Amino acid sequence: MEIVKVHPALGAEIRGVDLTRPVDEATQKAISKAFDDNIVLVFRSQNLDEKTQLAAARMFGEVAVRVRPAGRDPGGDYDTPFMMVTNIIRPDGKPLGSFGDGEMWFHHDTSYYPEPHRATLLYSMKLPTWGGNTCFSNMYMAYDNIPRKLRDRLEGQKVLQIHDYLRRERLDLGKVDMTKVRHQEQPVFITHPRTGKKALYISRLMSARIVGWSKEESEDALAQLFDISEDPSIVYEHEWGLGDLVIWDNWCSIHARKDFPRDQERLMRRLTIVGQAMSF
Ligand SMILES: [Fe+2]
Repeated sequence: MEIVKVHPALGAEIRGVDLTRPVDEATQKAISKAFDDNIVLVFRSQNLDEKTQLAAARMFGEVAVRVRPAGRDPGGDYDTPFMMVTNIIRPDGKPLGSFGDGEMWFHHDTSYYPEPHRATLLYSMKLPTWGGNTCFSNMYMAYDNIPRKLRDRLEGQKVLQIHDYLRRERLDLGKVDMTKVRHQEQPVFITHPRTGKKALYISRLMSARIVGWSKEESEDALAQLFDISEDPSIVYEHEWGLGDLVIWDNWCSIHARKDFPRDQERLMRRLTIVGQAMSF
């Protein structure tokens, strides 16, 4: 097995591991350490079915069961831990899975849950000829890059995380019916449960308000934090190849999808790993 860094800030490719075969314990340990060290792991050109993707996921913890969202039903199959993320439309006019089309802003997955998922695994099954890259940003580094004065003010503060199936738009808190959207207050800075390191826990898509701050103060701070969290120097952009399995640490990174042609099909099979409550 070989670990090859793909970006100075985060991300590593794991070479020499065939995930269709059982992975021995020593290799699993090395992969787990590489995951803690690198935040994003890439396994290129794998040939995974559901069974082997599940086996790969279990190296990282307990696989999460999907929960039907409140309010809206985005479609898809709920009798499986898998989510198909796609823009493919079935003959009956409904998407083949959870509809995933075009650009999507930076976010943590499930930051609006009491226990956000530890990790997400995405496996590429069908790709457009261009676009649809996924960008990952290192939130340990984002934390370190916050100006001292702002960081001191934010220490111990909470942020309201909201999910409303928007993909490149912030929610207007003045207009939103909070009974209809999933939301959760979270620490602005979390301590990563495994590494013990501090990470910034906000994102442009889902962070609506610093709890207890005025709208102006909150918007001003969040605007700075969004820019810091998306600084190109701490972002790895993954260009998908067919059969890539990518896993990201969902506690210390945010991710975003870039645009791709609407008239071309893209199909990804996704699993998540059970998480825990975030603490300061
Ligand atoms: Fe996501």
